[in-house]
Amino acid sequence: MTWFARIYLGRARKKGFDLGKMPIPEPALMPLKRNGLDPVPDLGQMRATAPVNKLPMPFGVNLWLVSGYEEAKAVLSNTKAFSNDFAHLMGTGATSVQQNPGGLGFADPPVHTRLRKLLTPEFTMRRLARLTPGIKAIIDQCLDSMDEAAGPVDLVAEFALPIPSLVICELLGVPYDDREDFQRLAMSRFDLFSGADASLGAISESLEYLLGVVKRQRENPGDGLLGMIIKEHGDEIDDLELAGLADGVLTGGFETTASMLALGALVLLQDEETFKLIHDNDDAINKFVEEILRYLTVVQVAFPRFAREDIEVAGVTIGKGDVVIASLSGANRDEVLGTGLETVNPHRDPTSHLAFGYGVHRCIGAELARMELRAAYPALVRRFPKMRLAKSADELEFRKVSIVYGVDALPVLLK
Ligand code: HEM
Repeated sequence: MTWFARIYLGRARKKGFDLGKMPIPEPALMPLKRNGLDPVPDLGQMRATAPVNKLPMPFGVNLWLVSGYEEAKAVLSNTKAFSNDFAHLMGTGATSVQQNPGGLGFADPPVHTRLRKLLTPEFTMRRLARLTPGIKAIIDQCLDSMDEAAGPVDLVAEFALPIPSLVICELLGVPYDDREDFQRLAMSRFDLFSGADASLGAISESLEYLLGVVKRQRENPGDGLLGMIIKEHGDEIDDLELAGLADGVLTGGFETTASMLALGALVLLQDEETFKLIHDNDDAINKFVEEILRYLTVVQVAFPRFAREDIEVAGVTIGKGDVVIASLSGANRDEVLGTGLETVNPHRDPTSHLAFGYGVHRCIGAELARMELRAAYPALVRRFPKMRLAKSADELEFRKVSIVYGVDALPVLLK
């Protein structure tokens, strides 16, 4: 079953790693593919006929794809029946804490509960409010440097990537002088520019770097997330685990928000009316952001869940030891959420959606992501009201098979 672990872990491990070229049976890749911004039609057909569906897999692997909204919620909310711990898959018996210190995504309660409790106070609206001026300044700084460019500008490189990485610096309390290093690590971490080999180095380099930041904060705790955890709970967590937590925040908050920023900008560039709406009307942004979170669902699937026992979901029995993939992009188009879900409707009253997941692992950074998106799009369209794509949408390079959907570059003309 190691092929499936490689979907998640191999990205960093395997030379020249490319999901699309791996010998993974087509049905398992289907929820990781798109047609432009939309999930592939097969996903909708599967949801309509079998929202809890066992995929035909070789070697006796039992893999389920859950694509209905209620069905996905049922899986994601049931930590008693479903585990996030990769040890189930690797057959190592090692705990995810040893393999992945501080990582929330692969931890089960009670380890998950303890770590998440340390982070939660740093993600309340009250604590996040302190970041508002910094977020605005970061966005303005990106727009200023775009303004200076003579020709076409790549919105991914100049806007979508730097904003979340600098915001995470602010959030964690990374000192100003260290930001360039942090940004470089964050970028190479996701092999956006450097390929998979560089990414492997970047993972250990980033943990090491964060360990250094943690040690310095331990001596002189600042007002950011790391300093606050050290001040208030310093004796409950060691440096490695805290660096792991910070690394999890970087992993969770960087590529996801960057993809949303880029693809949301593409939605605006392709829809003049919505562009004008966001340009003219302050009140429109909240509904727009909620609608594109649902519509784009950049995190296409949740972390895999492993059945700890035989468990029935929507009348179907999933066997003990089976692997379950919840398709968030599939669930967010489920007609139980409303009609016309295949299109972006910026006036839609926000529906429930699973773009941030559900249950105890629901995205801890959801409010921070919303803050960034709500600030970034209006600032972008107001600064560059004549902005347009520099090449046709058909020529854009989207990720072919990916867990976080995205576009590699988004060249635009600004004036
Ligand atoms: C639009 C941007 C974002 C999207 C779409 C997104 C999506 C998600 C989703 C779907 C999950 C749950 C995965 C699962 O249950 O298997 C998740 C978890 C997580 N996210 Fe986000 N995220 C975003 C931004 C952020 C930000 C800004 C941060 C922090 C700065 C963050 C940190 C995390 C962490 C730490 C987890 C793990 C939570 C846990 O397991 O308890 N995310 N995110």
